[in-house]
Amino acid sequence: EKGGYDYFMLKEIAEQPKAVADTLLGRIDAAGSLSLDEVRISAAELREVDKVVIVACGTAFHAGMIAKYAIEHWTRIPCEVELASEFRYRDPILDSRSLVIAISQSGETMDTLMALRHAREQGSRVLAICNTNGSTIPRESDAVLYTHAGPEVAVASTKAFLTQLVACYLVALYLGQVRGTKWGDEIRAVIRDLSQIAGAVDRVLETMEPVRELARSLAGKDTVLFLGRHVGYPVALEGALKLKELAYMHAEGFAAGELKHGPIALIEEDLPVVVVVPSPRGRSVLHDKIVSNIQEIRARGARTIVIAEEGDEAVTPYADHLVRIPATPVLLQPLVATVPLQVFACELATARGNEVDQPRNLAKSVTVE
Ligand code: M6R
Repeated sequence: EKGGYDYFMLKEIAEQPKAVADTLLGRIDAAGSLSLDEVRISAAELREVDKVVIVACGTAFHAGMIAKYAIEHWTRIPCEVELASEFRYRDPILDSRSLVIAISQSGETMDTLMALRHAREQGSRVLAICNTNGSTIPRESDAVLYTHAGPEVAVASTKAFLTQLVACYLVALYLGQVRGTKWGDEIRAVIRDLSQIAGAVDRVLETMEPVRELARSLAGKDTVLFLGRHVGYPVALEGALKLKELAYMHAEGFAAGELKHGPIALIEEDLPVVVVVPSPRGRSVLHDKIVSNIQEIRARGARTIVIAEEGDEAVTPYADHLVRIPATPVLLQPLVATVPLQVFACELATARGNEVDQPRNLAKSVTVE
């Protein structure tokens, strides 16, 4: 049942190109526009939405953080993202014009379920992004967009995350299209780019041997830090979460712009720091800023593990280890940048003798608080 792999996690990492392609399948019509027939909220209702609120936990929360960048950019609708466990216990401001998006692989996470119940009580529309047909969260939502990742068995979420991202981009593009923002041309281009992304994920998977080797060489370390900016920031958080839950190491993700506000004090000789570098194309200011962040931490002794686009030579002099990913539009980069971090965490866990599919103290679906 593991299809020849030692662990479900390895199998599920390898299945990502297919999971991504399957999640896109049938959702973009021949004319290149989006039709999401599983979304049973009318276009008229969507045009009325004045706020999007995303609620989720763990890895699904990181997908939501990335979705915020896409939703606000393509639709100009304000978007908040909140941990479901925080959202449900405060007094969030919601009404019938708020669209709440609940993201959950299992569809059974208690905090996310309670958050969506609370939202519906306030009269908000709820859209679920979920991987499990007929589970509680989609059953209680007004609309559902299923991710077609197939069953995810390993506790650490991998293919579900990539498909959650695809689903979030689809929702963002759909909202943009329905509301007719000025980004029409960009939206059409992104639809084209999305259809190529499964191939890009495949290419990343083919080049992972050096990442595995690097992971094995770091098995004796205590701490690994992760830095990113813009959509690379949630990717850094996701890389750190994977490493915590699988390798039981101290791992933290930071927004690179925060370095001088505290985290840079952690940098010491030979500390591994993974840096997710945004595309040098698009918003190049982000790229320039992170190149100086890499220089700053390296000057203080960090061992830099740099994840950068093919052809990005500006980072080469400052990278102790360079992991190349295919060029993608800025907002789509998490779909390829996350994959090396999954492989890294899985290999480090194996090297430390940990149980990869069933990490200690964790359950696949958290149905209690
Ligand atoms: O089933 P859900 O997507 O609602 O689960 C949310 C989190 O419990 C989950 O993503 C968790 O953080 C994973 N173990 C991370 O790999």
